[in-house]
Amino acid sequence: MSDNQVKMTAINYSKERSKSENPVKIEDLTLRDGHQSLFATRGRTEDMIPVAEMMDEVGFWAMETWGGATFDTMHRFLNEDPWQRIRTLKKYIKKTPFSMLLRGQNLVGYRNYADDLAKAFVERAAENGMDIFRTFDALNDYRNFEAVVPVIKKCKKHFQGCICYSLTEPRMGGEVYNLEYYVNKAQELVKMGADSICIKDMAGLLAPYDAYNLIKELKSKVAVPINLHSHFTSGLASMTHLKAIEAGVDIIDTCMSPYAYRTSHPAIEPLVITLLGTNRDTGFDIKHLAKINDKLEKDVLPKYKHLLDETKMSIIDINVLLHQTPGGMLSNLVNQLKQMDALDKIDAVFAELPKVRKDLGQVPLVTPTSQIVGIQTVNNVLFDDQNERYKRITEEVKAICYGLYGKTATPINPEVIKKALKGYPRGDKPITGRPAEVLEPELEKAKKEIADLTSNIDDIILYALYPVTGKKFLRWKYGKEEPPKEVKARTMEDVKAEEELIAKAKAGKLTETKKKEAPPKPANLRTFKVFVDNEYFEVGVESTSGAPVVNYIQPMMPQMPLSYPQAPAPVSVAPAPVSAPKASPPPEPVKEKATEPTPAASKGDTTGTQIKAPMPGMVVRYEKKVGDKVKSNDVVVVLEAMKMENAIYAPVAGVIKSISYKSGDSVKKNDVLCVIG
Ligand code: CO
Repeated sequence: MSDNQVKMTAINYSKERSKSENPVKIEDLTLRDGHQSLFATRGRTEDMIPVAEMMDEVGFWAMETWGGATFDTMHRFLNEDPWQRIRTLKKYIKKTPFSMLLRGQNLVGYRNYADDLAKAFVERAAENGMDIFRTFDALNDYRNFEAVVPVIKKCKKHFQGCICYSLTEPRMGGEVYNLEYYVNKAQELVKMGADSICIKDMAGLLAPYDAYNLIKELKSKVAVPINLHSHFTSGLASMTHLKAIEAGVDIIDTCMSPYAYRTSHPAIEPLVITLLGTNRDTGFDIKHLAKINDKLEKDVLPKYKHLLDETKMSIIDINVLLHQTPGGMLSNLVNQLKQMDALDKIDAVFAELPKVRKDLGQVPLVTPTSQIVGIQTVNNVLFDDQNERYKRITEEVKAICYGLYGKTATPINPEVIKKALKGYPRGDKPITGRPAEVLEPELEKAKKEIADLTSNIDDIILYALYPVTGKKFLRWKYGKEEPPKEVKARTMEDVKAEEELIAKAKAGKLTETKKKEAPPKPANLRTFKVFVDNEYFEVGVESTSGAPVVNYIQPMMPQMPLSYPQAPAPVSVAPAPVSAPKASPPPEPVKEKATEPTPAASKGDTTGTQIKAPMPGMVVRYEKKVGDKVKSNDVVVVLEAMKMENAIYAPVAGVIKSISYKSGDSVKKNDVLCVIG
């Protein structure tokens, strides 16, 4: 075993300083996790190009350029072909390997995809220029890697296996997430052929001394390099990095400073100085890094500053330390309770949460499991009583109980399984095999469905992953439809014009215009504090940011007409807010499936029960056609709104008399989606 101690070896701090004995390798995350964490993944390729060649000169072990939410956001909000980004960046970044975040069988989406699609995706990513596949699974169930790993290997690419870092106590230890757990997981990954192992601390929970013990132990038990990925969210990560380096970690993940800290990662620059002249010196040229930062600050960041969440003074979230839960999960819980007018129950929710998590097999809390545990917790607090627990079980909890996500860290409470799977359409016996085994191939079907638009395999994969928004994007790409102005880039001219306006306001040169009637206040208002001399204004701006829309179904009551004939059966139609997370897709049961546009039916016949849009959104698909018989509580329409898919149920039995929209159409609140007669 080597001595990992960090030692001063040189006092020559110049650029030409001699190479250190064991330099810490750095993976730069600026172009993926950096802007995903701080700017809702809205970074555009054109804004990466100005620094690409300079970044290639730094000497990074790898640059993360793709994967995670980029694929979704690019085609949906930026009108950019995700595949093209790899090819474009490769022209500028020729020396540094590219890394991507692959969500195991979920690829770059939010559900388990079939094996044929998973394999094709990895092949194409490799062919387009991806070098390192950082692969993770929310449950650390590596059977969800079985489809993709052989393809990564066949393409002769680097397979980096992740262990999602989780806790049940304030620090590492206890019955589940202890040293032994992590060592076992690492050994499992090595057996699968991992070329390196990544400790993926997505919530920023890894404490410095735990990192020290963990890395020391892993370095003594496995031979492959260890990479640490620790988000700054809680404020621990910079200290954690240092202790991990002292313990001999091989690779550390950082960002260029304008993309660092908050929910992102520590910056590279302080680390370079910290290690200068030691046996772990990165060898990086701090002046060169400063030049890159200068360019980013001047030419790029002004276009993104408005996306930064500035609602809080503090750049860290200590709730993460108090409750061992990711920051995003806590804000979701608070939002759900607010919607139910039950914010006073927050302490009960904090008390219930560890119980629900234990019942559900102590799953790591990462998207989507964090939302699944969170929503069920809120349901229990609101609806359970002394006589009955788990009165309202969500579809996702049923899916976990059935085994559709994979194997949980500890067995699920058998009482909960029994209750969850009672009457479950797939059966009341959980599956024990690999979840994707129950999925039908899907690539050929996608190929046929999109044949009139494209025969390009990358397009077909994009469509297979995101049928509704993918098709929309392909129509823009091939000039069949004009892209809306929201997907256009914000230019430096736009930024300048705004700055001039603010300067004018500050100088008191803005004249008052006649007050117009205010439009209805949108729910996603961001407030800005503006000071003009000593006067203070609060300005609300409608946000265009936010996490990408995900594939998630929540039950929702349609807007009832006044002449509504009878009350709907209460079963399974829970009030909407109970299942309102930001992202929580069931892996399989409700998949985003493209339907051929349903021709708008004649709007003449509106007698009967109208189903109205409960909120503004986009029609994902109709589950029924005109003339179809429906039972009460059948899903009729799936509407994407509030960052998730909402199933809208028939309030009455009858026949679908008319359908007013098609897949991809935008609707306003109260628009009549269809009529049941
Ligand atoms: Co991350």
